[in-house]
Amino acid sequence: MSREFTTVSKGIDRTSFPFKQYQRAKKFYWDPQELDFSQDKEDWKKLTEEEKHDIKMRVASFQAGEEAVTADILPLILAIANEGRLEEEMYLTTFLFEEAKHMEFFDRFLNEIGISSNIVSYQAENTKELFNEILPNAMNKLLHDQSPEAMAEAATVYNMFVEGVMAETGYFMFVEGMKKRGILPGFLEGINNVQMDESRHISYGTYLIQRLINEHPHVYDLVLEKMDELDKFRFAFKTEGGGAGKIEGETAFGVKYADIVAFSNKQMKVRKEILKRAYKQIENTVKP
Ligand SMILES: [Fe+2]
Ligand SMILES: [Fe+2]
Repeated sequence: MSREFTTVSKGIDRTSFPFKQYQRAKKFYWDPQELDFSQDKEDWKKLTEEEKHDIKMRVASFQAGEEAVTADILPLILAIANEGRLEEEMYLTTFLFEEAKHMEFFDRFLNEIGISSNIVSYQAENTKELFNEILPNAMNKLLHDQSPEAMAEAATVYNMFVEGVMAETGYFMFVEGMKKRGILPGFLEGINNVQMDESRHISYGTYLIQRLINEHPHVYDLVLEKMDELDKFRFAFKTEGGGAGKIEGETAFGVKYADIVAFSNKQMKVRKEILKRAYKQIENTVKP
C-alpha cells in the first residue's frame, strides 16, 4: 500500500489556524530553569504559616494537574496523527513539551523555596477523581475509539474544563493575591508564562470541538452535557475550613471566595458561548 505524505504531495497549509499556533508556540519560548527565584526565597521566609499552607495547597493541585496533562496527552496526538492532520499534529507537539516545562516550573519553585518534603496531603480532594480517573479515562479511550464523540469528550475534559476552567481559576487565585502584595516575582513570571502556553492549548480544544461540531452537529449537545457533568469538580476551596458551599470570606492572600466563584462561573459561560456560536453557524447554514 502506498502511503501519501502531506509534505511531499501538497505541502503544509501555512495559512491554517493550527500551523499559525505552532508558529506562535515556537516564538514564545521560555525556560523554567532561567527564572530568578532569589526574591521569592526571601518573601517565602516572611510568609505566615497560613499563607504557606495556602501556596502548598494550590501548588500541590497544580503539580498533580500538570503531571496528569503531560502523562495523558499522547493518545490525542496519536489519534490526530492517525487521521493525517499534519498541521494539527505539529501544533500538538508543543503541548507535551510545554506541559513538561510547567511541571518543571512548579517543581523548581518548590525546590528553590526549600520545600522538598512530600506535599501529597495538600492536594485538593476535588481534583483527585478528576486527575486520577476522569482525565486519563477520557484520553486513553482514544487509543481504541477515535469517533467524533470520543474526540470531543477528550477535548472537553482536557482543554475546556481542566485547562479552560480549573487552571484558569487557579491562576486567578495566585495572581490576584500575590500581585497586590508585590511578592514572589519569579513565581508570578512563571505563572504568566504557563498561562500564555495554556491559552494556546485551550484554543486548540476550541478549534477541535468547533471542527467536530461542523462535521457532526450532534457533538455540540454531548460537549455541553460533559461540561455540566464536570461542574461538580470546581471549587476546591469550598472544603477549606468553612465546609461545603463556602463562598464567604477570603483566601490567605486576600482573594475573596465570591470573586473566585464569579471568575470560575464566567470561564464556564465563555467556553460554552464560544462553542454555541460554532453550533449556531452550522444551524444557519443548514437552514433552507
Ligand atoms: Fe500546563
Ligand atoms: Fe496545557
